[in-house]
Parts: sequence; C-alpha cells; structure tokens
Amino acid sequence: MSEQDKNFSGSIPDIYDDVLVPLIFQHYAQDMARRVASVMPESVLETAAGSGVVTRALAPLLPSVTRYVVTDLNPPMLSRAQRQQPDADRIEWAQADAMALPYGDDTFDVVCCQFGMMFLPDKTVGYREAFRVLRDHGRFIFNVWDRIEDNHFAHSVTATAARFFPDDPPVFLARTPHGFHDAEAICLGLRNAGFAHVDVNTVTAESRADNAYIPAFAYCQGTPLRNEIEERGAGLLDKITEAAAADIERVFGVGPISGKIQGHVFVASI
Ligand SMILES: C[S@@+](CC[C@H](N)C(=O)[O-])C[C@H]1O[C@@H](n2cnc3c(N)ncnc32)[C@H](O)[C@@H]1O
Repeated sequence: MSEQDKNFSGSIPDIYDDVLVPLIFQHYAQDMARRVASVMPESVLETAAGSGVVTRALAPLLPSVTRYVVTDLNPPMLSRAQRQQPDADRIEWAQADAMALPYGDDTFDVVCCQFGMMFLPDKTVGYREAFRVLRDHGRFIFNVWDRIEDNHFAHSVTATAARFFPDDPPVFLARTPHGFHDAEAICLGLRNAGFAHVDVNTVTAESRADNAYIPAFAYCQGTPLRNEIEERGAGLLDKITEAAAADIERVFGVGPISGKIQGHVFVASI
C-alpha cells in the first residue's frame, strides 16, 4: 500500500462526500446503521468514519443516552463529517488511527467501520484493537468492497487511467479499496484475533447516476486516485476524468446509468 492511499485531504473530502457518497456509500451506510442499532448498544465506536455517511444514518437510530464516539485518521474528513451532522454535539469526535485506538480495554459494545479496514497497513493489528476495546459480548461490525470486477464503475475508471500510464498504471482502486475481499481469510483473521463467532453477508446493490461524468469525476477526483494521477501527470486530471466518462458512457449508455456494486459485511462477536 502506498502512503498516498490513506491521504484524504485537499479537495478530496468535499468531492467524496458530495458525489461519491450518494453513488456508492449511502446504501451500505443504511445497512450498517440498521445492524448496529439492532444490537441496542450503550456505547459505539466508529472508526474510519470519513465524511460521516454512517454517522448521519446511525445517530438518529441510537437513544440519546448511548455514547457515540466517531473517529478517523484524517482530520479533513472528520471536519466534513462534523459540519454535515445535524446533532453534532451529542457525538464525541476524535482523530484516531484504527491500529492504535486511544481508548481503554473493554470500553464499547460495538465497534463499527464502513469501508475502512482495507486502508490499514496491518489488518491483524486493526482486528486486535477492535477486540481490545470491546466489552464482553461486544461486536465488531464492518464491511469491505468485493473485487473490483464486481464494482463496475471503479473497474472501468481504473482501466481508463491505466491507458494513460501503461508503464506505471495508477491502480489505487484495485490495490486498496478493492484489494481486501477474501471473506474466508478475513473470517480466519478475526478468529485468530480472538473473536468467537463471525457472520459474513455479501451485499449487492446498484450505483446510479444521472450521467457518466458523475462516477468518472467521483472516482478520479474524490478519492486518492487523484493523488496518483497528479503525481504522474500534472494537468492530466481533467483529461483522464473526461476519458473515463466517455468509456463509462460507451458501456453503460447516455443519460441515467447504473452499475453493479458489491461488498461483504462482517459481524464478529466476542
Ligand atoms: C473509503 S473511506 C470510508 C469512509 C466512511 N466510513 C464512508 O463510508 O464513507 C476510508 C476512510 O479511512 C480513513 N483511514 C485511512 N487509514 C486509516 C486508519 N489507519 N485509521 C483510521 N482511519 C483511516 C480515511 O481517512 C478515510 O476517511
């Protein structure tokens, strides 16, 4: 994993939240919020919360007495989340690395993490940290994207970007968000970290947009793929975004389009 893969800053947080979140994250955030709320936890820690799509879905489902701590590695993502949150004061916001959580042992009933585990350089450390801060009978609820071939717009954008740099393709999307999807290996890692029981569900949905430029712009400019493109060719970002839109349009059509997205949801119990 490159150092730049976890760099969500500059223009990325706003484009991510305005364009990419409605495209691919919203559906999974509702699913995550329902799963967490159904446990009726007294305390919840959210890690890698990003621009807060899960926080916005989950906070209204939790009683006001429930302690809800929302964290992310990148302060610009967390500030975007905080600004968008209607009841921001009832939440504890903190910058935190999911591999070194600044909380004591046996503190939370649920740790939840939407599409963040893939960004940890050492997943085992991340599992152990979640296990450590959970109380007896606690649950670690998280999701990961499936392989890039099952996430159609991401796959198409990656192919377009590779055409521009055949000797050194920018493969952020395949390497990191879509690079950690072996459900069996993940279940084994969780059991080795101490979780007694792990449930996994594969959730498929449709990513919908009014036109092909929207997913092209979202992936090229609202994710760390932007950093990789800019490192390789200053001034090529808009050209590659337009080429990605043209390629999506060729396959998915003009006007309102939709493409498959797929992820795995894990519920690991102590
Ligand atoms: C794809 S985003 C997911 C954000 C949010 N959960 C969502 O569903 O939109 C990945 C997030 O992981 C965060 N991140 C990367 N490395 C991290 C780490 N070591 N600890 C905590 N968060 C991390 C990034 O800042 C980014 O906000």
